[in-house]
Amino acid sequence: MTKIFLIGYMGSGKSTIAKALGKKLGMQVYDLDQLLEQKLQKSVAEIFQEQGEIYFRRQEALLFREMVTAPQSFILSLGGGTPCYANNHELLKAQGITSIYLKASVATLIERLKADPCQRPLLTLVAEADLSEYINKHLFDRSYYYHQAHYSLVVDHKSVETLVEEIITLIN
Ligand code: S3P
Repeated sequence: MTKIFLIGYMGSGKSTIAKALGKKLGMQVYDLDQLLEQKLQKSVAEIFQEQGEIYFRRQEALLFREMVTAPQSFILSLGGGTPCYANNHELLKAQGITSIYLKASVATLIERLKADPCQRPLLTLVAEADLSEYINKHLFDRSYYYHQAHYSLVVDHKSVETLVEEIITLIN
């Protein structure tokens, strides 16, 4: 049984790379945010708005644990905050799991998140002028958790195809 978990900050490319990797390896791909949306029948933005972040983090941790123990092989892209709450980071190296941190620089993240801020409840209240400071601090706070992954892969200026090849080399 093989499970590959992709972790990283919002905008690091987790979902896109998971899909491309799944195609290349012929593996099932899941996205934790999407699974949570299906389970709760609400968008992530609605969950944050209606039940609040603490409720979201509890539900996220429960579903994450289900995925950790599921007796299947798959690739899973986690939410940007998943490893940073409820001791989830301790499960990144659980039996049968290979975890990869997709490491993007603040400049790359700003560029990507500026282009697509509205899907992300944590960023909706951050003014564009404050984005750099916000991400710098947030990434600093989260860095410890992200570095609990088995591997870190710098994603800046690399194509999806290159990253998929790099991941395959890493895990083989
Ligand atoms: C979050 C990242 C989001 C989503 C939620 C919270 C975070 O996922 O889980 O908005 O805390 O970084 P993406 O990283 O897929 O945007």
